[in-house]
Amino acid sequence: MPQPKLIILNDAQELYVRAAEETAHITGEAVCTHGEVTICLSGGSTPAATYDLLATRFRLSVDWKEVQFFWGDERCVPPDHAESNYAMTNRTMLSKLALRPDQVHRMRGEDPPASSAAAYEDQLRKRFGLDDGEFPRFDLVMLGLGDNRHTASLFPGDPAIHETQRLVVAVEVDAEPRKRLTITPPVINNAQRVMFLVAGQSKAAAVKDILEGPRDPDKFPAQIVAPQDGEVIWLLDKAAASLLSPR
Ligand code: 6PG
Repeated sequence: MPQPKLIILNDAQELYVRAAEETAHITGEAVCTHGEVTICLSGGSTPAATYDLLATRFRLSVDWKEVQFFWGDERCVPPDHAESNYAMTNRTMLSKLALRPDQVHRMRGEDPPASSAAAYEDQLRKRFGLDDGEFPRFDLVMLGLGDNRHTASLFPGDPAIHETQRLVVAVEVDAEPRKRLTITPPVINNAQRVMFLVAGQSKAAAVKDILEGPRDPDKFPAQIVAPQDGEVIWLLDKAAASLLSPR
C-alpha cells in the first residue's frame, strides 16, 4: 500500500474548501473514466461544511447527474432525526441538488439494525454486481476520525474491526446513538481513494496515534484503513496535525 498523502491546511475553513476541490476533481476523473462516480459519504460534523460548499460554490464543478451517493455509516435513528448522517447530508447538500431518487442509497437507520445492515449489503451487491467474496470498489470513501480513534462506526475493541466477509454490519458503540450501521474494513480497503477529513486540536492525539503510533487497530481502529490498490489522502488542519513529527 502506498504511503498516505498528507495535506495540511492552515485552518478548518481551508480544509473544507480543499475537501470540496478534491471531491470535485475525483468526481470528474471517475466520470471521464467510467461514466459515473460512486461516493461513500462520511457522517459526523466535519464534512458538513464541505457538503454545503459542493452544493453551492462548487455546484457547477460536478456533473451531479452521474454521482451515486452511499454512506459509510449511519446511526440507527429515523432519516429526519437530528443525529442521522443522512439528515445532515440532505440538509447540507442533497436537498440543494436536483438528484434522481436512484442516485441516493441511504442506509435505513429506522429499521431493525441487523436486517438493515443485511439489506444495505444486498443493495451494494446488486448495485456493484458483486459475486460472493467480492467487495464494492468506491471511487471515493470519505472518512472522519473520532478523538477515540474510531472511523466510520468502527470503534475501539469492536469485532467489526476484524470483519473480513461482511460488507455492512450493525454495531453497538460507546457513543450516542449507540446502535449504528457501518461498512467494514474490506469495503473501505477496496476503495479507489479514501479521504480523511480531520480538523481541530481535539483530534491531534488521535491523528498522531493513527499515523505514527504503534500498530494496534483494536485500540486505534482508523489504522485498519490500508487500501491494497487505492490512495489514502489525509486532509488535516494545522491543529489536528500539530503533534505529528516534522515531515
Ligand atoms: C459518524 C461518523 C464518524 C465521524 C467521527 C468524527 O457517524 O459520527 O461516521 O466516524 O466521522 O466521529 O466526527 P466529527 O466530524 O463530528 O468530529
